[in-house]
Amino acid sequence: MPTSTPYRILDTPITAAHERDRARAMGPEQLIALIEASGLRGRGGGGFPLARKLATARAAAGGGSSYVVANAYDADPGSPLSRTILLARPDLVIEGLAIAASAIGATSGYIYLHPEAAAARASVERALASARSSLGDLVVEIALGPGGFMGGEESALLAVLESRRAMARQRPPYPATQGLLLRPTVISSAETLAALPLIVRDGAEAFRRVGTAATPGTKLVSVTGAVGSPGVYEVAFGVTVGEILEHAGGSPAATMKGLHIGGPTGGILNATRTGVVFDYETLKAAGTHLGSAQIRVIGPDVCIVNEAAHLFDYLAKETCGICVPCRVGTKRVEGILEGIYSDLGRADDLPWLGELADHLDRFSLCGFGITSASILRTTMSEFAGDYASHITDHRCPTGTCAPARSRRYETMAQP
Ligand SMILES: Cc1cc2nc3c(=O)[nH]c(=O)nc-3n(C[C@H](O)[C@H](O)[C@H](O)COP(=O)(O)O)c2cc1C
Repeated sequence: MPTSTPYRILDTPITAAHERDRARAMGPEQLIALIEASGLRGRGGGGFPLARKLATARAAAGGGSSYVVANAYDADPGSPLSRTILLARPDLVIEGLAIAASAIGATSGYIYLHPEAAAARASVERALASARSSLGDLVVEIALGPGGFMGGEESALLAVLESRRAMARQRPPYPATQGLLLRPTVISSAETLAALPLIVRDGAEAFRRVGTAATPGTKLVSVTGAVGSPGVYEVAFGVTVGEILEHAGGSPAATMKGLHIGGPTGGILNATRTGVVFDYETLKAAGTHLGSAQIRVIGPDVCIVNEAAHLFDYLAKETCGICVPCRVGTKRVEGILEGIYSDLGRADDLPWLGELADHLDRFSLCGFGITSASILRTTMSEFAGDYASHITDHRCPTGTCAPARSRRYETMAQP
């Protein structure tokens, strides 16, 4: 089965401190070459090769100051992956951060947490206390994010570390060349860094034995919604969504309508698409993205138009607001979707939504706005019937949306 691999981050017997010493002995060039050979890609959603980030930061630092940040923020409230690692194996993240630091010559690192992740924070504090004496000249500190979805986005994260509001900024320059205090900064998901001690211990070939050629290794996923055993699971890249659902106790076809994949900005696929392979490229080709690696099973009694409106309601509240396409676009989309499910929809709403999806995707400043377009594109193509039912037949496909008039009446009837 996909999870019975030698690379289970959550229960690998490994004395991480030994791997840091081995990494240091290797020297930066050999270390970066090893990480490149392993094919390790960022687990935070984008899938960018870590070795390339390290090489860029090392070159840009040129022996001067640089930073490593373990992004353990878990922006998606439904996908507590970093917390799961930090509770089980905080040493792997600290060690991974130390290995990345030695690759770029950094002497300063941060473990960036959500302000509400109290147990994970306590776990990191304990692990740091016992690791501190062996970290040499590397100083690792805990930094707390602001709360909210945008706090996990890397350029907003940098703003927070510099005591500013969590707002996105234009890239390039990328953080690897100009990050914290304008110095080269490697920002990597805690999960990405946690893989480094394993790679240093066992070598690139061993790491590549699990997963796919394009994306070796394992991935934590959060399975939520209408499944037998919701929770965090570790799977090898390349398994299908259906296999992951089986790990999570399965979900009888009758109780599945949609598969919301990738977190709040993820697309919603029809439940028949359990054969989609779980990796960056196939999820993208299917219209969604790996994102926060949440798979949420949507039950049959959910109106997808209402669901999409609900997601945009959340996004319109969480946008950092610095760029117009996202600040205005998410609000606009929310309003149109609300109109449709309230029986005020018109046929030309659909091309309008398509246009707004293109604007979000093409002109937003960061992944927040860009990826949110997938909600519109997937729901309009895979659940066209739900939209048509509201717009053309003037009825909710699941009988759950209240028409505007009765909603207004109910509101008026309130004391
Ligand atoms: C709205 C938003 C929230 C994000 N939240 C997180 C997060 O909580 N943790 C994370 O590792 N990456 C998050 N990311 C991705 C980061 O911007 C960045 O790409 C990632 O930390 C890089 O690490 P990686 O190369 O290991 O994937 C988020 C991105 C966006 C657009």
